[in-house]
Amino acid sequence: MTEKLDKIKRVLITKNEIEKKVRETGRKISEEYDGKPLLLVSILKGAFIFMADICREITIPCEIGFMCAESYYSGTESSGKVNITLDLKQDISKYHVIIIEDIIDSGRTLSEVVKLLKERAPLSLKVYTLLDKPERRAVDFSADYTLFTIPDLFVVGYGLDCGEYYRNLSYIAEYDAG
Ligand code: IMP
Ligand code: MG
Repeated sequence: MTEKLDKIKRVLITKNEIEKKVRETGRKISEEYDGKPLLLVSILKGAFIFMADICREITIPCEIGFMCAESYYSGTESSGKVNITLDLKQDISKYHVIIIEDIIDSGRTLSEVVKLLKERAPLSLKVYTLLDKPERRAVDFSADYTLFTIPDLFVVGYGLDCGEYYRNLSYIAEYDAG
């Protein structure tokens, strides 16, 4: 485990910076969706901390749902294939849906998830992502709202992992892949 923690190169986004942005974003969602049936959909596992934090900054009634979309089998390499291994229980045609995602990299996961959810005809559908790495895009996809745009680096912490480690860091760090 000590070996594993040695792989943190530097802190990219601090706990305070994340908290501030998440608070602002929660406020924005609360204003925009006031009076509307709102469903927050989180993509596990990476977005679990972002979801837990942002839902507590939302001051209007909302429901929460989870999906699991796996595109990375291990390490830092994308498989290029997206598997939905856990689906929503809610009938989303009754909701304004916001997807709460951890990071957009190639864009493959979210373009698949968005395509799938659109077929279910939600009242509206938006994507909020904590992080975006636009330089890495392999398919044409953009989020409706991005909290932090980052360069082409592999990052861990605040829910994001490398081989299942580091999800419990309260900040975002650059991982030393070398
Ligand atoms: P996609 O390439 O946009 O489909 O990204 C799919 C998933 O890969 C994300 O939801 C993350 O779980 C994971 N991922 C992409 N980039 C990183 C990273 O820098 N660190 C950790 N996980 C990542
Ligand atoms: Mg993810």
